[in-house]
Amino acid sequence: MSFTIVVGAQWGDEGKGRVVDLLAADADIVARYCGGDNAGHTVTVGQKTFKLHLLPSGLVHEHPVGLLGNGMVINPKTLLREMEEVRQAGLVINPERLKISHAAHLITPGHIALDSGREKARGSKMIGTTKRGIGPAYTTKVARSGLRFEILNDPDIFESALNDHLEDVNFQLMNLYQEEQLDKGQIIQDYLDFAGQLRPYITETGDYAHRALASGKSILAEGAQGTLLDLDHGTYPYVTSSTPTAPGVLVGLGLGVGSVTRVVGVAKAFQTRVGEGPFPTELTGDLALRLRGTGENDWDEFGTTTGRPRRVGWLDIVLLRYAVRVNGITDLALTKLDILSGFETLQICTGYRKGESIFSDLPLGPASLGDFQAEYEEVPGWDEDITSIRSWEELPLMAQKYINRIEELTDLPIKLVSVGPERSQVIMR
Ligand code: GDP
Ligand code: IMO
Ligand code: MG
Repeated sequence: MSFTIVVGAQWGDEGKGRVVDLLAADADIVARYCGGDNAGHTVTVGQKTFKLHLLPSGLVHEHPVGLLGNGMVINPKTLLREMEEVRQAGLVINPERLKISHAAHLITPGHIALDSGREKARGSKMIGTTKRGIGPAYTTKVARSGLRFEILNDPDIFESALNDHLEDVNFQLMNLYQEEQLDKGQIIQDYLDFAGQLRPYITETGDYAHRALASGKSILAEGAQGTLLDLDHGTYPYVTSSTPTAPGVLVGLGLGVGSVTRVVGVAKAFQTRVGEGPFPTELTGDLALRLRGTGENDWDEFGTTTGRPRRVGWLDIVLLRYAVRVNGITDLALTKLDILSGFETLQICTGYRKGESIFSDLPLGPASLGDFQAEYEEVPGWDEDITSIRSWEELPLMAQKYINRIEELTDLPIKLVSVGPERSQVIMR
């Protein structure tokens, strides 16, 4: 039995999808446990690139079963489209291979319209959400008026609950946000059709996962978003509305404490963020352009879901150590090391300054970051193109030193280093 969690150690887009793809070679089950199609996970195998928003990245392999856990909020239209897209690309998706929790929540056009309405109303205080309806879907979940997948099993009850939900949304759109009302009839018709297509996939996924573990099978939980976007532990209010940190896996899959055997924290060799909120090591100008890329390459720093340019900066060790703590990370995976080739020197943020005081930890958690300036340790860079390197020994000495320094500062082993987006562009240690 093994139960491995892959979690984003920064603000999302760390390369979780490609790390999950590598680890899924040994997994029987790959499971998403939080978020929805705000996620965008890229897996590149040879010439083929998959961009997955809802399906677990491990499904790119032929053998694992995929679970969409109860902690997720799922847009059925996006899910059906994605299922079709990956079928076209040659993957098998059927109810034997994909199971959706009966307790996962549905995202409707109502949630999406409210997401936009609320962002507009926030004005300069906008969060920069993906506008996929994530926040409003979790809001209805917590308000106990959400629509869970189990309701799709009874079309009459579903129709009536959906109608009530849309009436409530239309009331809010009109009275709070002065937005146009949604066409209830059309949405209900579409959603009854989606219900028919997705009904065979609805499963008690917690029970399925529990039985699998009990019979010696291995589960890989695929994080979406990242630690600093966690509702409780991130840069509140500039966060998502779920618990992407490792403890969210247990709630989001319905498994007990004590079953987890490994927690892999995925971090980029530098730092990125999409959307608003504090970012102490953020760079602008030429350095930022070099880290971000121009958008020519598929791996340049532009959002997988929304296409927005990502904000970029130097690696922040204070935040990485924080991620180690709140997730209980057992080892790290460092991605995109190749992007750092060619910098004469690199900066690693090892503390913050506020006035005359220096902090090596976060005095009041990430939400307070706006008040602090990053303090750096400068290390030498390397010139060599490392994208063809597959072993530790071949890495330039300064790249080895950069990795060793991160290990020292986080007190954790980096067991996987990636040097390009393709499946084989990796150094396992
Ligand atoms: P996720 O949301 O954490 O799964 O990450 P995304 O897929 O949104 O963003 C990561 C991006 O980096 C994708 O375009 C990947 O193809 C790319 N990527 C991952 N690892 C590497 C790497 O080692 N080198 C380079 N150049 N690109 C990488
Ligand atoms: P993956 O899984 C990066 C960010 C949004 C916004 C904030 C809230 O690909 O790493 P939301 O739509 O969730 O209400 O937006 O969270 N965000 C992500 N940023 N990667 C993601 O997912 C993200 N999912 C949400 O940009 O700042
Ligand atoms: Mg992403």
